[in-house]
Amino acid sequence: MEKFYITTPIYYPSGKFHIGTAYTTTLADTIRRYKKLRGFDTFMLTGTDEHGQKIETVAKEHGKTPKEHVDEMAQMAKDLWNLMNIKYDYFIRTTEPRHEKAVQDIFEYFLQKGDIYKGEYEGWYCMPCETYFTETQLVDGKCPDCGRDVRLMKEEAYFFNMKKYVDKLLKYYDEHPDFIQPEYRKTEMINNFIKPGLEDLCVTRTTFDWGIKVKSDPKHVIYVWLDALTNYVTALGYKQEDDSLYRKLWPADLQIVGKDIARFHLIYWPIFLMALDLPLPKKILVHNFIMMKDGKMSKSKGNVVYPEKLISRYGVDATRYFLLREMQTSQDGLYTPESFIERYNSDLCNDLGNLVNRTVSMVNKYFEGNVPEYNGTPNEVDKEFEEFTNSQIKKVEKLIDKYEIADALKSIPTPVEEAVVEEQIVEEPKVEQVVAAEQQYANETTFEAKPSLWQRIKNSKIVRAVKAITRIRIVLDYSDALPEGRGENNQ
Ligand code: ME8
Ligand code: MG
Repeated sequence: MEKFYITTPIYYPSGKFHIGTAYTTTLADTIRRYKKLRGFDTFMLTGTDEHGQKIETVAKEHGKTPKEHVDEMAQMAKDLWNLMNIKYDYFIRTTEPRHEKAVQDIFEYFLQKGDIYKGEYEGWYCMPCETYFTETQLVDGKCPDCGRDVRLMKEEAYFFNMKKYVDKLLKYYDEHPDFIQPEYRKTEMINNFIKPGLEDLCVTRTTFDWGIKVKSDPKHVIYVWLDALTNYVTALGYKQEDDSLYRKLWPADLQIVGKDIARFHLIYWPIFLMALDLPLPKKILVHNFIMMKDGKMSKSKGNVVYPEKLISRYGVDATRYFLLREMQTSQDGLYTPESFIERYNSDLCNDLGNLVNRTVSMVNKYFEGNVPEYNGTPNEVDKEFEEFTNSQIKKVEKLIDKYEIADALKSIPTPVEEAVVEEQIVEEPKVEQVVAAEQQYANETTFEAKPSLWQRIKNSKIVRAVKAITRIRIVLDYSDALPEGRGENNQ
């Protein structure tokens, strides 16, 4: 069996997980399900990125130790994925001793090789926040987090020699046109980060404690990206006693990330792998962001939407459907309560729900509630519809193979609509909308047509989504789909 190894980013457990994080994980789970259906031996990895200053600070704010905090948050992530019917094969936490040890070994290896060297880090330091910022991160010359004064400071730090690998990376991009999807992200990396001259990456800090210590120089803590990125191989046992999973699954077939971390996955990650002499993942898919009417989701704006609320009101299938249908991977998608309700009412209730409802009632009416055996293609109407549905299924498969899930979902309603029309012919041969030509078919389409209609729906797997039948209801208001923390009147 061919393997398929898929990963999501490991999320920062700094606060509750919102629909952005839920989107990436749902997307990965959907692709995993599809690959499994197609006969692949799938493995999905997700997890939490538990070190760093931010986590240390947040834990303190909650009166907890960092460990207590991340333990709770990792459980919260697992609960959410469970609630969302997302199945992963392993949940990596960067505080696992086996990961920490592997990262320390990787660091020492780079040090010995001369890929990591000791230097000086210079940046704008905010004392109260204990954080460095770059010139461009400052807001009006002040700390972007607390607004207070910052000071230009220097500290001893280790750097990774990125420059050494730049040409090799560019060559790799060139020779592997499928490595990055969508392609414009590659151009962006080259123009914005590589052409202006790639800086060496600072990989340690001495200003905080909550992280993996450098084995040979323990006052330094390994800064998050070297710790975080390597999770994709350490989770499989890389540099550990039992590395059988690593040998079976690496290189990854698909790594999904959001555009905010494209640079780390498209430049630094491949370079780390090259430095380790490991093969690169087959594909990195960078998706865009779910946006709100007033821009990015952020706690300070109070416009964050959490999946639990949508799920409790509309169900997990509808929530997953919305995220996948509304988010084109190569473009930002917009979440509004109205668009959620529109998808729910129009796609799920009206089209799909009605179809199921009518189909079930016909199965009851003509077949005493038993789904009849499929016995070939009884007539012309059936034949046409069957061919159409089959071609549509092919189309959907092609789109999913390209990971264009929103487009794939867009082409499912067409057979649903067709099926609804056909059902109307069956059930209401005299209705005005049915044109004269169709009336002719209508007469042929008597009882025999019905079993195959049901069968086709079953075949086209539409029936899966149709679990929604249990929750067919017209939603009259959408107050529950409002972002949390916002009044219902100031929409
Ligand atoms: O960056 N729309 O973790 P993170 C769509 N720990 N996706 C979104 C989103 C939005 N509005 N907001 C977040 C980190 N995401 C690091 C990653 S990986 C080795 C380390 C998703 O918690 C998207 O996938 O900030 C984005 O890349 C990720 O959450 C960032 O998660
Ligand atoms: Mg982030």
